[in-house]
Amino acid sequence: MDYQPLLEQIAADVAPLVGGGTPAEYIPALASVDPGQFGMAVADLDGKVYGVGDWQVPFSAQSITKVFALALALAEGGDSLWERVGREPSGNPFNSLVQLEYENGVPRNPFINAGALVVTDRLQTLTGDASSELLEFLRQESGNPELGFDAEVAASEQSHGDRNAALAHFMASYGNIDNPVPTLLDHYFWQCAIEMSCADLARAARFLARHGLRADGSRLLTRSEAKQVNAVMLTCGTYDAAGEFAYRVGLPGKSGVGGGIVAVVPGVCTLAVWSPGLDPHGNSVAGVASLDRFTTLTGLSVF
Ligand code: DON
Repeated sequence: MDYQPLLEQIAADVAPLVGGGTPAEYIPALASVDPGQFGMAVADLDGKVYGVGDWQVPFSAQSITKVFALALALAEGGDSLWERVGREPSGNPFNSLVQLEYENGVPRNPFINAGALVVTDRLQTLTGDASSELLEFLRQESGNPELGFDAEVAASEQSHGDRNAALAHFMASYGNIDNPVPTLLDHYFWQCAIEMSCADLARAARFLARHGLRADGSRLLTRSEAKQVNAVMLTCGTYDAAGEFAYRVGLPGKSGVGGGIVAVVPGVCTLAVWSPGLDPHGNSVAGVASLDRFTTLTGLSVF
């Protein structure tokens, strides 16, 4: 299928929304990004990528990396990970502390910050260098050896990281963190600071549309694990707006406060959108609208 005319139509449809919302303000390096940018890319199962607007401009991947970290941790360490993190939507903001005490230091899911810290901790134990392993994995799957970290964003995360530090120390007090908290936080902040374009993200996520098969044809996840990661993306990938995202878009999706969203049409294609203006839940306003248009116009949703 030639997605190009469709992408151009979607870009025209959502143009009035670009610049709406607010770029993430709690990390200064993200607050200064030009909010007038918009890009969208679709990758088919063979890796052919179609794009529109700023689809080749790198931006801060932020929490989108949580999907890739989860996949790597499952691939390297198996499903014992699920003893340390749940699979239920939290109904709370991504950086909330409230449920953790009620639930004895076991985060609701791997995509809220607490859960992502557990995943990165697991990856650190399994590999000895979680953020570098993740970057290397993303380079291979995207086919872009130039992918790297944005040192300014990592430093900004670090200096505004009190809440993540609180989450990590709190979980450590329950015995749910294996590595020293400063080491874990360092890898988590570098992980959030990986820069990727829509083209890179759409290519890198293809294993989720290919039922677990990597770009080189080898298997990363079993079919069942790929289904499970997609299911957790659908129910938890956009935090306390996951119900609204499923209602509007109807696809597994994962957002980041850099304004990117990755979505998966299993067996068909992957999508990546980017526009920095966020809604109050931390999801890109024009990004959600463009995915909504995509599934409305094509009928390609899981429902
Ligand atoms: O942990 C943080 O605060 C961020 N660096 C990542 C947050 C993020 O992208 C949440 N998602 N929407």
